[in-house]
Amino acid sequence: MSLPIYLYGHPVLRAVSRPVDSGREGLKELVEKMYETMYESEGVGLAAPQIGLNEQLVVIDADPVADSFPECAGRKLTLINPEYEILDGEKIVCAEGCLSLPGLSENVARVEHILLRWVDEEFRPHEEEISGFLARIVQHELDHLDGKLYIDHISPIRKQLIRTRLRNIATAKVRVDYPVRYAPKR
Ligand code: NI
Repeated sequence: MSLPIYLYGHPVLRAVSRPVDSGREGLKELVEKMYETMYESEGVGLAAPQIGLNEQLVVIDADPVADSFPECAGRKLTLINPEYEILDGEKIVCAEGCLSLPGLSENVARVEHILLRWVDEEFRPHEEEISGFLARIVQHELDHLDGKLYIDHISPIRKQLIRTRLRNIATAKVRVDYPVRYAPKR
């Protein structure tokens, strides 16, 4: 059974996540659940805050978008305590969506080349240069660990235009075809 995805408006999505330590209990089971949840909701990435946990943990399987973005073919990444450096400051604009913002998609400018560092489930360190749409997915997911969402990168005018739709998500006035947890009533 997959886990509910926390939707926009929930404070857990705005908190900064803490690093995972090597003694964390149930890490493998949690990672498995996160993959299951991501696949069930047809996402290509999921960050722990989206299942209500402020821990530095991300799962990515970019293979479903490989037809449009060949660099994503077969790319499955479990990122624990990830961080990145920008290798080239030039930004590319592309449409992005998020499981925590159902029904929305906006153009977001992001850098195309990053150097990513992380540890895997065995806490082995990894370092890799990541490019293209995969670099976009990584930046989007790592934003979640800092309490950021892609709508934080769009213009005030665009944000004004989607204001009602954002409010509808935050006040549980949207139907979503995967299990979700709405923001608490204020
Ligand atoms: Ni997201």
